[in-house]
Amino acid sequence: MPKHFLKETDFTPAEVAKIFANAREMKQARTQTPKTLVGQSWGMLFYKNSTRTRISFEVGLHELGAHPLILSASNTQISRGESTADTAKVMSRYLHGLIIRCYDHQLLEDFAEEGSVPVVNALSDFLHPCQIYTDMFSIAEKLDPDAKDLTACLKGKKLAFLGDSACNMANSWILGGAHLGMGIALAGPEEFAPGGEIREQLSFEGLEEKFTFHTDPLEAVADADVVYTDVWVSMGDEAEAEARLQQMKPYQVTTEIMTAAKPGALFMHCLPAHAGEEVSQEVLDSKASIIFDQAENRLHVQKAILAELVS
Ligand code: CP
Ligand code: NVA
Repeated sequence: MPKHFLKETDFTPAEVAKIFANAREMKQARTQTPKTLVGQSWGMLFYKNSTRTRISFEVGLHELGAHPLILSASNTQISRGESTADTAKVMSRYLHGLIIRCYDHQLLEDFAEEGSVPVVNALSDFLHPCQIYTDMFSIAEKLDPDAKDLTACLKGKKLAFLGDSACNMANSWILGGAHLGMGIALAGPEEFAPGGEIREQLSFEGLEEKFTFHTDPLEAVADADVVYTDVWVSMGDEAEAEARLQQMKPYQVTTEIMTAAKPGALFMHCLPAHAGEEVSQEVLDSKASIIFDQAENRLHVQKAILAELVS
């Protein structure tokens, strides 16, 4: 059975520490990346647009020695209704792995079930685990760059997530935080509180429901080591855009919000950002902001994830 990476808990904390150590090495000596995937061909099947994920995986696969194929529903027979089961079986006969960005998370589970090669979640409506591993690595890299175990300094740290607390990024922080021992405090309108699906996932994983949800953003950011936000209108939510933009206004990350967090707190965003909506331009440009380090680290961490998957 191949190993898949569909959610934050698919690697044990010890494996995550190994991935982070490997990512650090790959970052320090990018041109000397061991060609772990030489001779392999990996499909990248994207049902949604992407800048960071697509480019970092395509470059990462190349640097690991593999050939990346960019695929979409519209340029394959998926658009003519070929079943997921048949598509997964056929693709598994050619490819050594599949990296998939989609709407319904179940599609990832179906590809994993029906195919016979590793499947990587490049974002679903439910979770974005490649981003969370990268963000945790990025936090550790700032807090304790030379640590033997880069996951150690994450334990007990508090991350405040402001805005759509029911989106894929919020779910992923809840799951990833519980898995690696970080405290997660979310703030947003009551209608966008964390939903039942992520609570069920925590319970399924045997993880305690330790996150907190607040409607007052100042309560969530009090004593936070990291303040995080994401777009208020995720891909697929466009029909609700106008209402969401109104409802989320009180949750914009401003300099005032950053001042209410722990002194020296980091500001993070998975990007793309909408300056003036979920975050002010001033915060994006501030010294606290590590948004472009996060974006860069997608490359190094995902290379390490792929290497671990095939090890
Ligand atoms: N953060 C992120 O996943 O960005 P893209 O949508 O550009 O891939
Ligand atoms: N929540 C956002 C994340 C983008 C990387 C979305 O799904 O559009």
